[in-house]
Amino acid sequence: MNDETLAPSSYDTSQRRSDALWSRIETDPSGLRMLTGDRPTGALHIGHYFGSLRNRVRLQDAGVESWVLVADYQVITDRDVVGDIKGSVRELLTDYLAVGLDPERSTFFAHSAVPALNQLMLPFLSLVTQPELERNPTVKAELAAAGKSAMGGLLLTYPVHQAADILFCGGNVVPVGRDQLPHIEQTRVIARRFNERYAGGEQVFTEPGALLSESPTILGLDGEHKMSKSRGNTVMLRMDEAETVKKIKKAKTDSERVITYDPENRPEVANLLTIASQCAGRTPEEIAEEIGDKGSGTLKIMTADLLNEHLAPIRARRRELEQDPEHLFSVLRAGNERANEVAEKTLARVREVMGMVY
Ligand code: TRP
Repeated sequence: MNDETLAPSSYDTSQRRSDALWSRIETDPSGLRMLTGDRPTGALHIGHYFGSLRNRVRLQDAGVESWVLVADYQVITDRDVVGDIKGSVRELLTDYLAVGLDPERSTFFAHSAVPALNQLMLPFLSLVTQPELERNPTVKAELAAAGKSAMGGLLLTYPVHQAADILFCGGNVVPVGRDQLPHIEQTRVIARRFNERYAGGEQVFTEPGALLSESPTILGLDGEHKMSKSRGNTVMLRMDEAETVKKIKKAKTDSERVITYDPENRPEVANLLTIASQCAGRTPEEIAEEIGDKGSGTLKIMTADLLNEHLAPIRARRRELEQDPEHLFSVLRAGNERANEVAEKTLARVREVMGMVY
């Protein structure tokens, strides 16, 4: 997604709001509630990890109340088949817990298990217009990427569903990439209109803020714009060390012998340096300097080693978790229960302000 998805002024406003949230997280996170989620389409890769998962763990550990959604109904926004959804949910939960999201401090739940959340979609749909839905740039991009000519009803309206995901639990911090900003804006509009139209100005819903990531985007190892499992240009968290080395060795680089950090002109080399830098906690420039004229072969070996070292505890934990899928699903069921309690309360409040208590 490029920067044309929202008017430039909207980006500035979102960025300022995000900066304010970051400083609140650092000084006093009480009263903050993070809502994040992923579509369960399989296991996660290092792009997810460095781009968002690690950040979520950081927020959780900083004391931000955390809600983590397994967005199963979103899987069928842009594809025709559900596939092995349960297997995908299991993989996702395994990755979540392996990276350090902690069921004691984070609530994991699934769309399909929380009816009252889904019901919020009805009043919310009444608050948005067809042109608003149709001009959402992320939805348009997803339609194009799916290679379909006709827009499905759920694809068109899922940003409204996403508003329900966020608002049902009073989520006020939503860590997202820039492609999700239109959905956060839509959510803010829905909260505002609900309060005005149906609640006589009472603040039933709070407008959430997007928390824009300070983490880098990891490109695909083939130099493609994004890591994506279907392109095979990724390192999955669940891979073993040998597979990781193999993948990194196959990564695209260039023929320049001296390694420099130059994302503009040498994106593939810069990408490996970014991965190495994320693992080592050093700047990509420092790592480039250290490699100097030893070439991309050395860069690859170093990146693979650092990555394997960094992921070792996560992978060990992952292997343990894989032994006990029942435990993973019991974590999800416990979270579903909590989510249902909160969603039912929210829906009761909505019925009340709308005069629908009979
Ligand atoms: N759309 C998000 C994605 O594709 C997943 C998601 C669903 C989400 N509901 C959400 C993200 C609510 C943030 C808030 O990754």
